Amino acid sequence: MKILVTGGAGFIGSHTLVELLEQGNEVVVMDNFINSKEESLRRVKKITGKDFRFYQADMLDTAALDKIFEENEIEAVVHFAGLKAVGESCDQPIRYYTNNITGTLKLIDSMSRHGVKKIVFSSSATVYGQPKEVPIREDFPLKTSNPYGETKLMTERILSDVVKADPEWSVVILRYFNPIGAHSSGLIGEDPKGIPNNLFPYITQVGSGKLQRLRVFGDDYPTPDGTGVRDYIHVVDLAQAHLKALEYSAKSQGIEYFNIGTGKGYSVLEMVKAYEAITGKTIAYEVVDRRPGDIAECYADPAKAQKVLGWSAKYGIEEMCRDADRWQTMNPEGYKDEH
Ligand code: WQD
Repeated sequence: MKILVTGGAGFIGSHTLVELLEQGNEVVVMDNFINSKEESLRRVKKITGKDFRFYQADMLDTAALDKIFEENEIEAVVHFAGLKAVGESCDQPIRYYTNNITGTLKLIDSMSRHGVKKIVFSSSATVYGQPKEVPIREDFPLKTSNPYGETKLMTERILSDVVKADPEWSVVILRYFNPIGAHSSGLIGEDPKGIPNNLFPYITQVGSGKLQRLRVFGDDYPTPDGTGVRDYIHVVDLAQAHLKALEYSAKSQGIEYFNIGTGKGYSVLEMVKAYEAITGKTIAYEVVDRRPGDIAECYADPAKAQKVLGWSAKYGIEEMCRDADRWQTMNPEGYKDEH
């Protein structure tokens, strides 16, 4: 299949490109490098030995989108492009709604005008808000508490209305839990801008000495050790879920939602201890106040993805820690645009 991957230079996008190329797909990549580096695409080519067309373009640029569909026989779109920092979205809501919603509307419009009606969308467990219980199933109530989460929920609803208006569309919504880790080569990985917002890149940077000490955001949650519990999933497992979603999309119409998680929750302190045990590195930390908006527990019931997509996570916490550490060690400053 010929797949357009928007945001393909990003953390999940680049890992999905590797799996798509190695499966023999032709890909076309679009990215504006707002939150990624072109070096990641050079690394994807190095890992796979394959080439692909790239368009440096913005989702808001209709002419650029039309050019991609006019120049390539795209059969399906995997849509990663979007801003994704929860805290930043609270400070800059208009930027997030413009980028994530208007950008997606322009993508859908261009797809529609060029007869492309298959899309896999990068959504997030954040659409569940504070879940009534765990593990979380796809039929749980949806409620978000920040503009970033709102853009994911709104996009799901937009795509649902597109399918209602034209049942020929095939939409697969993947609700990611907490992606971490890196490709086993250590050539691609998570390269957050500045100080990481997320736990795991913060841990790997403390492990490498780039940061001094982890702040644990609260140890008074109703969890076994008081710290937040999340469903960490290896980014390569997540990438593989996109290939299964495309296979499903190729033979189906309508819209389907899937939780993409391991089904197992780990606390912050369990992640710290696992990382120390596997890497032999020490993670200094101090417990500070809770981070506003955080929830106690969030992990998936991945049964539907297993049953319908034939997908389940293969990698455990050991591989997640080992692969993330290898990436960090080999790339202490992430991707430096070396050219
Ligand atoms: C995990 C746990 C923190 C940092 C967010 C988004 C979600 C998705 C993934 C985009 C929590 C604790 C964290 C730190 C800490 N993003 N923590 N110290 O909040 O579950 O999910 O990122 O798609 O949409 O909501 O991930 O890694 O920020 O936090 O103690 O320095 O680690 O309190 O319990 P989160 P996270």
